[in-house]
Amino acid sequence: MTVYAIIGGTGLTQLDGLTITAALHLDTPYGAPSAPILKGEYAGHEVLFLARHGHPHRIPPHQVNYRANLWALREAGAKAIVAVNAVGGIHAAMATGRFCVPHQIIDYTSGREHTFYEGELEHVTHVDFGQPYDAELRNKLLDALHACGADFTDLGVYGCTQGPRLETVAEIARLERDGCDIVGMTGMPEAVLARELALPYACLALVVNPAAGKSGKAITMAAIERVLENGMSQVKTVLARVLTS
Ligand code: HPA
Repeated sequence: MTVYAIIGGTGLTQLDGLTITAALHLDTPYGAPSAPILKGEYAGHEVLFLARHGHPHRIPPHQVNYRANLWALREAGAKAIVAVNAVGGIHAAMATGRFCVPHQIIDYTSGREHTFYEGELEHVTHVDFGQPYDAELRNKLLDALHACGADFTDLGVYGCTQGPRLETVAEIARLERDGCDIVGMTGMPEAVLARELALPYACLALVVNPAAGKSGKAITMAAIERVLENGMSQVKTVLARVLTS
């Protein structure tokens, strides 16, 4: 039986309905993860949960210790990872409140610890990352979204920016020219670190705002929080479905 780990992002610092059996305070060669890893049962299945930004939400995207998080999840027994990410919508199809299961990613981040393959190495390793997300896990997410009657888009290119500030209008126009459909700050290096550890990984993205310049209005946290509230309750239903599939 696959033990899934869920990495909860903004709006999902805890998983209501999770019966916690242990809070694992793990240390790793890369330091401590964002929070204790919660082990428990959700929808009748064993699951691990990690709040990416800590609980309470206190670690900004560029300061998340992604290496410690991924390492600790593997140590805790994760065999596959579902990442939940709040994103801005760039493509017109990526309406606020809609889900997207991206199939590609472009990394615009800088200065993040982004690999396990450095330091005192016996040999240099280049992992294949042509398809950054696991196909089978993506399909499970898509089936679950469909079964739950959620509004979603089944493909998308995730542009990952450095943050914590939001983008300029010109930056979003550039991302759009590059082919990005959604924009977020936490998709990388999380996805590649999972790949380096050979952990199947897929992303369930919730569009919480139109990206800069896409609505003619400034982006406010208040508006984002309203979308998160409804969206994250749907996320919990979708995750329960994935675990039982
Ligand atoms: N840009 C970057 N990250 C985000 C956004 C955005 O507009 N919305 C939610 N996360």
